[in-house]
Amino acid sequence: MKEKILDYLSKEHDYFSGDQISKHLGISRQGLWKHIQELKDSGYEIVAVPHLGYRLLSCPDRLFPFEISRALHTKFIAKKIHYFDYLASTMNLAMQLGMQGEPNGALVLAESQTKGRGRLGRNWFSPKYKGIYLSLILRPRIPPAVSPVLTLLSAVSICEAVKKVAGLDVQIKWPNDILIHNKKIAGILTEMNAEVDKVNFVVIGIGLNVNNDKKSLIAQATSLKEQLGQPTSRIALLQELLRRIESNYLVLEDKGAGPIIEKWRNFSSTLGRRVKVYYQDKHIEGYAADIDKDGSLLIRKDSGFIQKVSSGDVIHCR
Ligand code: BTN
Repeated sequence: MKEKILDYLSKEHDYFSGDQISKHLGISRQGLWKHIQELKDSGYEIVAVPHLGYRLLSCPDRLFPFEISRALHTKFIAKKIHYFDYLASTMNLAMQLGMQGEPNGALVLAESQTKGRGRLGRNWFSPKYKGIYLSLILRPRIPPAVSPVLTLLSAVSICEAVKKVAGLDVQIKWPNDILIHNKKIAGILTEMNAEVDKVNFVVIGIGLNVNNDKKSLIAQATSLKEQLGQPTSRIALLQELLRRIESNYLVLEDKGAGPIIEKWRNFSSTLGRRVKVYYQDKHIEGYAADIDKDGSLLIRKDSGFIQKVSSGDVIHCR
């Protein structure tokens, strides 16, 4: 009901009488008043003036499920949203929910994380109301070996959403760091529950620095706010990200990994460069020639030998 009330109040920057709204929505005046109080408690600025009615002045930038669902128009992504003010990590809950049979596309969303996890055992700094911290439960009908394409798909979706909402060009550093001007703006952590030949579910974790102030970021990281000099609506960005993930997922189901990998290549800042890749206490140096359909990086060494690397950290040499 709250989303319907907000839709109604957002129609125009004007007053709407309580009578008008409650008749339109088929609820009592008392019921309407209760919902309006709850919205005000959640941070919506709504004024009530005798003989004029209610007027919406401003909305808080909170990722409330009813805000995300408003005008989202997806078929299966984020049809179910688990929303928290804080969690240790959205990954932990999403993995648990996945085991309990949560449907394809269910979303776990937190306004902050106390133990946000990054790749290779690192932490993910998750300050409250500043970023987007989500885990998405997916149940793809693909063999386990192909599942890394979901990480590529997520990286591509982040780049597309940031371009559309913030107008910024972002690039992907292999395997899945999202960069603006060589600084990290987003990261992806993928975890999977699978049997030898069957994926039960995959959890895609995405952390995106949106409205973080420059002083709270480490030197290698940036945020949209730092880049743009002004805040971005986390709601609009999250909605666009979810739409992009769904449309790319439908392409993957329909046409296979090819079109996703092609998009990934176009966003890549790694391919075509001389790189050093650190993996399992070793490193190799060479030319980043391509990525394989399982997401591995193909390095052409100076000897001409092509080596495939499936995980690690890349340094761009020049
Ligand atoms: C990385 O680049 O190292 C991956 C970072 C992934 C961070 C996100 S934030 C939401 C989700 N929950 C976590 O604990 N981690 C991922």
